[in-house]
Amino acid sequence: MPLYLDPDALHTFRDLNQGPGAMLDLIGAMAFRAAGTAQRLGLFEVVAAGPMSAAALAGKLGVPEQPLTVLLDALTGFGYLERTGEQYAAGPAASPWLDRNAGGGFAPALAVWHDLIGELWTGLEHAVRTGRPREPYYPWLERRPGTLRDFQTMLAGLAWMLAPAVVKAAPPVRGSLLDIGGGHAIYSLAFCRAAADLTATVVDLPGALEQGRAHVADAGLADRVRLVPGDLADPIEGRHDAVLLFNVVHGLDPSANADLFERVFAALRPGGVVLVLEPFADPPAGTGGHDAAFLGGFSLNLAATQGGRLYAFDEVAGWASAAGLTGLERLALDAPSTDELLVARREAQ
Ligand SMILES: C[S@@+](CC[C@H](N)C(=O)[O-])C[C@H]1O[C@@H](n2cnc3c(N)ncnc32)[C@H](O)[C@@H]1O
Repeated sequence: MPLYLDPDALHTFRDLNQGPGAMLDLIGAMAFRAAGTAQRLGLFEVVAAGPMSAAALAGKLGVPEQPLTVLLDALTGFGYLERTGEQYAAGPAASPWLDRNAGGGFAPALAVWHDLIGELWTGLEHAVRTGRPREPYYPWLERRPGTLRDFQTMLAGLAWMLAPAVVKAAPPVRGSLLDIGGGHAIYSLAFCRAAADLTATVVDLPGALEQGRAHVADAGLADRVRLVPGDLADPIEGRHDAVLLFNVVHGLDPSANADLFERVFAALRPGGVVLVLEPFADPPAGTGGHDAAFLGGFSLNLAATQGGRLYAFDEVAGWASAAGLTGLERLALDAPSTDELLVARREAQ
């Protein structure tokens, strides 16, 4: 959003006894909702074809011209569109990031966060007052195939980016890998590509596995990566040499995490390893600016919608140690991310 506070504006806000930071946040909230609405209408794909009048856009989108024009003008102010005379074109905040036809990288994230904040964050106050989400995220998501698809696409995009660094930082993994909450299966596929003798089992909710099925088929690794619908609270089947808990711990409350680590320990062969991938509540030194602000908001989202939160490395290490795991390590990734790896081992007998 092309907004900043110049010194004159700052003085005006102060003279009017108005909070400049909160005012910018208000405009940001309006811009976010307007962009999410435009996305749902399919505007960003249509304007990508070139400048168009409001009448032409209304015809293409199948909505009345007058209210659409109000939206178009607001989006122009927010930087999502540019207006020359009567013609609207994609602006710097939209192009190419939000055009799905051009592989716009932020389109799935905008769709997911728009639905999350528009629907589930209406329960934020309830969650803060009671310590419990009013409506839990994952069952809500399984009932929304479009949002679920966008959610897994968003995670898969991050996983494509991080997987090489994760495999490089992790100890070598051989034998049998269990990927709990592994949905899109990108991490299991990356570990399997790195070790020819590895087979993987990805356990996740049924809808979440749909993309995993497609990725496994595309990779031609259906004989080595098995997708098993299930709940992570269920007993863990089989014995494994490695278990991935990637971005799963932050969705659970402390007692569910303690229980999960105990079951993971029992499912590990002696000498096996647990890998936890998380942004920790105590991120690497130097994490600041928008990264730190996003982590705070992300943790609030977890509390509001899942009954989890971001945990400090030592909290996660505590559940691992209490379950009997040893040899704990904290490993940074060679990637532009606040995610880090926790490695814990079941001693070889
Ligand atoms: C934040 S995503 C992480 C996905 C993947 N591990 C990654 O790091 O990109 C959490 C995953 O846990 C799955 N999950 C959440 N609750 C679950 C449950 N009760 N049983 C099984 N899977 C669950 C979700 O469907 C989702 O795929």
